[in-house]
Amino acid sequence: MINIAVINLKGGVGKSVTTCNLAAQLAAEQYSVLVVDVDKQGNTSKFFKRCDYEQPSLAEVLLGSAWASDAIVDTSLPCVDLLPADMRMLKANRNILMDVTEPQQYRLRDALRKVAANYCYCLMDCPPDLDMGSINALCAADWVIIPVDCDEWACDGMAEILDQIARVQMYYNPHLKILGVLLTKYRNTKYADGVITHLAQMGVPLLHTAIRYTVRVSEAKSAHLPLRAYKQNCTAALDYADLAREIIEKVSTADTREE
Ligand SMILES: Nc1ncnc2c1ncn2[C@@H]1O[C@H](COP(=O)(O)OP(=O)(O)OP(=O)(O)O)[C@@H](O)[C@H]1O
Ligand SMILES: [Mg+2]
Repeated sequence: MINIAVINLKGGVGKSVTTCNLAAQLAAEQYSVLVVDVDKQGNTSKFFKRCDYEQPSLAEVLLGSAWASDAIVDTSLPCVDLLPADMRMLKANRNILMDVTEPQQYRLRDALRKVAANYCYCLMDCPPDLDMGSINALCAADWVIIPVDCDEWACDGMAEILDQIARVQMYYNPHLKILGVLLTKYRNTKYADGVITHLAQMGVPLLHTAIRYTVRVSEAKSAHLPLRAYKQNCTAALDYADLAREIIEKVSTADTREE
C-alpha cells in the first residue's frame, strides 16, 4: 500500500475534494483505495455519507480502543473504502498528547500496516492544522501532496508545512517524500502566475497537473458524487484523471529507482 498524505495548513484549498476525486480516479484505474479522513470536520466522511457516531472512527483507532479493520467502512464507489472521522478527533488529539505511555506519532502508521495488504493506495485527508492527526499522517505517509489554491494568500503556511515535513523526515519518517504542490481552483490569472513564481523561489516541486476552477466541483460535492460520475468531461474531472495518471507514474518510477 502506497500512503499519500494530502496536507496544507491553509483551509479551503481543495484537500478534501482532491482526496475524494483522486480516490475515485485511482479506483477507475483499477487500484483499490483506502481513504483516511484525518480531519475532525469530517468533510470527506460526509461526502461518502459515512458519518456515524455509533460506529468506531479514526479517533478510536488512534486511541487504541478499535482496530482499523473494525472502523473501516465501504463506500458507494467500488474499490474505495473509508476510515471515517468526526468531532471525536478533538478528544483523540488531546488524549494522544497527554498519553506518553505509547508512541504518539506512530499510531496511524501501525494501524494502517495491519490493513495494508488489502489496498494499493491510502489517501489521508488532513485538517488545516498540525495536530496529532496530521503528524500521525505524515509519519505514516510515503508521499505528500500539498494542494494550493491560486489566490492572493496561496503560500501562507507553506514555509511552516515544509519545515514540518523536513522535521518528520529527519526524526520520524525518513521515507517521506514530497510528490509536489497541486495547484487547485486554477485560473489563468496574475495571482496564479505569482503563486507559481513564489513556489519556484521556495524550491517546492510542482505537480505537472493543475486542477482548473469550475462550479461543477461544488455541484458534484453537493450531489455526493465524484466529478467523473457527475460530469465526466468537465475540466476538473479531466484534470483529476490526469492527476491520477501522473501520480501512478511518479510513484512507480520512484519505486523502480529504489529497488
Ligand atoms: N477546482 C475547483 N473549482 C472550484 N471550486 C473548488 C475546486 N476545488 C475545491 N473547490 C471548492 O473549494 C471549497 C473548499 O474545498 P475543500 O473542502 O476540498 O478544501 P479543504 O482544503 O479540504 O478545506 P478544509 O481545510 O476546511 O478541510 C469547496 O467549497 C469546494 O467546492
Ligand atoms: Mg477538508
